[in-house]
Amino acid sequence: MVDTSNEWIVSRTGIKERRISTDKESPSYMATEAGRKALAMAGIASEEIDMVLVGTVTPDYRLPSLACIVQEKIGAANSAAMDIVAACAGFLHGLATADAYIRTGKFKKILVVGVERLSGVVDYSDRNTCVLFGDGAGAAIVEASTDQRGILATYIKSDGRFARLLWIPEGGAVKPLQNIENGSGDWYIQMNGKEVFKHAVREMEDASRRVIAEAGVTPEDVSLLVPHQANIRIIESIARRLGLSMDKVFLNLEKYGNTSAASVPIALDEAFREGHIKENDLVLMTAFGGGLTWAAALIKW
Ligand code: ACO
Repeated sequence: MVDTSNEWIVSRTGIKERRISTDKESPSYMATEAGRKALAMAGIASEEIDMVLVGTVTPDYRLPSLACIVQEKIGAANSAAMDIVAACAGFLHGLATADAYIRTGKFKKILVVGVERLSGVVDYSDRNTCVLFGDGAGAAIVEASTDQRGILATYIKSDGRFARLLWIPEGGAVKPLQNIENGSGDWYIQMNGKEVFKHAVREMEDASRRVIAEAGVTPEDVSLLVPHQANIRIIESIARRLGLSMDKVFLNLEKYGNTSAASVPIALDEAFREGHIKENDLVLMTAFGGGLTWAAALIKW
């Protein structure tokens, strides 16, 4: 489709495969599947959920929120529901929001989902973006607890001055979508990859250091880094800056590419199910995306 090569993609990004959803696999379908698996793993019923938070920039519809559709499909009839639009940092923004709500005592059990169907907003004639993005979903249940394990610290931050480094110009109220058949490239993701790269390395390191400091530990204490899976070179730079060897970094981007808000929860789930996380491990997560937005969280497992 575009002037590229497997060698370029693998060496510049680390990505070997990506998953593209079928027509049946809408964002709400993928989010619901992930949510149901998280409920089963946590051993709780959907009626117990107090809030559904869905990180996504690719909802089923402009209105209502994807979270409301997931709430209905999952049967979380007693919950509030809302979307979190923070691009690739969407899941960690959801986790930080859930953590804050639970600490106030207002809610006890919150479903946090990260889901994206980026294949629907990628221009497959733009080699700068079309080789990077994939579809997927991941989810977690956040629950109040009294022991010393769980979420130790979270950090979320944005800088709207750089909004146009990574954006979809058309389809909002300023430039409504007229006719996608005759539409311009403005309906698709546009990205200044080089600039995003620089911000991503700097801010994910900073966010990581902040949650590590807030928890009163040091980078050497981190058992596993589960970073946003955008580019192997970004991840290697962050690990190097934090003094973490790559055997302390979980990677799965070669299988999925950049799934934006879904990337961290998919990676966290795989890391746990594959036995890379043990009880009492310190798990550091960090993500960066359009907005610009970025985040980190430190969990004692
Ligand atoms: N195949 C071949 N050549 C390519 C391709 C491709 N698929 N894509 C770009 N190139 C070319 C460019 O046109 C450029 O050519 P030129 O020098 O003749 O102009 C050359 O490769 C180098 O381009 P760069 O942009 O400098 O390449 P870079 O090494 O920076 O890699 C990449 C590009 C992979 C996009 C990288 O910048 C990156 O990963 N950026 C961060 C992306 C990211 O993390 N996004 C985060 C969140 S996404 C979200 O929020 C939805």
